[in-house]
Amino acid sequence: MPRFYLTTPIYYVTDAPHVGTAYSTINCDAIARWHRLAGDEVKFLTGTDEHGQKVADAAAAHGVEPIEWADRTSSRFVDAWAELDVQYDDFLRTSEPRHTQTVQAFLTKVYENGYIYKGTYEGLYCVSCEDYYTAGELIDGLCPIHRRPVIEMAEENWFFKLSAFEDRLLEWYDKEPGAVAPPTKRNEALGFIKGGLNDISITRSSLRWGIEVPWDTSQVFYVWYDALINYLTAIGYGRDDAEVDTWWPVSHHLLGKEIIRFHCVWWPAMCMAAGIDPPAHVFVHGWLLAGGQKLGKTMADGSAVNVTDIAPSTLVADFGVDAVRYHLLREVPLGADGEFSLEGMVARYNADLANNLGNLISRVATVVGSKCGGIGPAPDPSSSLRTAARDALEGAAEGWTTFAPQRALEATWRLIGAANAALEAAEPWRQPPGAEVDAVLGDALEVLRIVSVLISPAMPSTARAIWGRLGLNGAPTDRPVAAAAAWGQYPGGLVVERGEPLFPRRRD
Ligand code: MSP
Repeated sequence: MPRFYLTTPIYYVTDAPHVGTAYSTINCDAIARWHRLAGDEVKFLTGTDEHGQKVADAAAAHGVEPIEWADRTSSRFVDAWAELDVQYDDFLRTSEPRHTQTVQAFLTKVYENGYIYKGTYEGLYCVSCEDYYTAGELIDGLCPIHRRPVIEMAEENWFFKLSAFEDRLLEWYDKEPGAVAPPTKRNEALGFIKGGLNDISITRSSLRWGIEVPWDTSQVFYVWYDALINYLTAIGYGRDDAEVDTWWPVSHHLLGKEIIRFHCVWWPAMCMAAGIDPPAHVFVHGWLLAGGQKLGKTMADGSAVNVTDIAPSTLVADFGVDAVRYHLLREVPLGADGEFSLEGMVARYNADLANNLGNLISRVATVVGSKCGGIGPAPDPSSSLRTAARDALEGAAEGWTTFAPQRALEATWRLIGAANAALEAAEPWRQPPGAEVDAVLGDALEVLRIVSVLISPAMPSTARAIWGRLGLNGAPTDRPVAAAAAWGQYPGGLVVERGEPLFPRRRD
């Protein structure tokens, strides 16, 4: 059975979950669900990134210990993901003892391999990024991402010999052309490497809220250095070698473009330094924007761009969880930047969910009620929709397995469109009951059965609801997708339920 290990970035506990962070998580969740549906053995990891100066400062500002602050905010992520129907296999907090153990084991290995040395660091530091900049990288003397003042820092630290990995990284990029994707982001990462790599200071002496350096307890590891290793903590590095061999390197990391350097330069180099393979696949997505600005970005006055009025829980209450998931998967393809707006969400909801999918369900159920006494007929084994269904399965598989949920959903919606068009052409509501009407409706019911299988990664509760309305037992995810989505399995003779509209049209 193929194995598939998928990770989100771990989220900072300084911010509440917002639509931008939900974008990373829901895309991962749906991709993981597809792989489970395909019959793969899946591990899907998410969690929270809890150490570092930023968290220590936020806790101090609220008069609490960092761990108390982390407990509070981490649970907000747990709640938000539950509300968004995210089905992770593990939620990792970097404050957990298992993480300390793995980080210490991993970095001790790097140290023993000769890639960590002592030096003095002087630089310009942005607390919000938890990252250093050179003077040339600043914009108007401010952090280029947050537009906030940076601070001058000088301290004696331990350094990672990143510079020693330039050639090996370039070789890796050359040998594994698909490892960093999409190609535009791969080129960007390659640009960093070709521009020359400096060693990085990986410890802090001025901070206590972090993981202690085992060979120098006056220091803790720099938060990014502990954070990246979370991907190995969850699979038992330093604690369970068999588990590591099971899940590494069949690993896929999905993350946003602002953290490309950490994941596509530092992380593979760190793996090489510890003597393990780099991750199999790093996919870099773009940003959801509000009025052209990164949604959720912290501004100079401390406010965040457009997050409160479109908090995930507000959207779920307003649109329903599956409509929110659908929008985040369908609107902005992974890899690109795109605007997120309520108007855009309403427009897509009406077009794709109310008019297309919702209409198909309610039309079919209504006509089965009026022409077939509410009992669904069986499909025609050689229906012309059979080819459309096969194309949808192929397109969905292609989209989901190449980190293109948008294409997977487009392929699925082409099948919905084909079924609606077939109904409009045949107009069974105008015909007398009989074999012809039965054939048209049986085909439409079979399309709905297949659609409920194909949409299940994106819209799990809608998938189950449609399945139930068709009178089917079990769930659309009970069998591997190749078998479940093959044409001709709606048995006929089942009671089809009309029910309330799943996606009532919105007027706003
Ligand atoms: N803690 C680090 C990641 C460490 S991983 C070893 C971090 N956290 S974060 O909370 O700031 O961001 C986490 C993820 O949310 C990133 O992938 C980021 O791109 C994503 N997003 C945050 N705002 C976003 C948008 N407006 N649009 C799309 N994704 C966004 O970075």
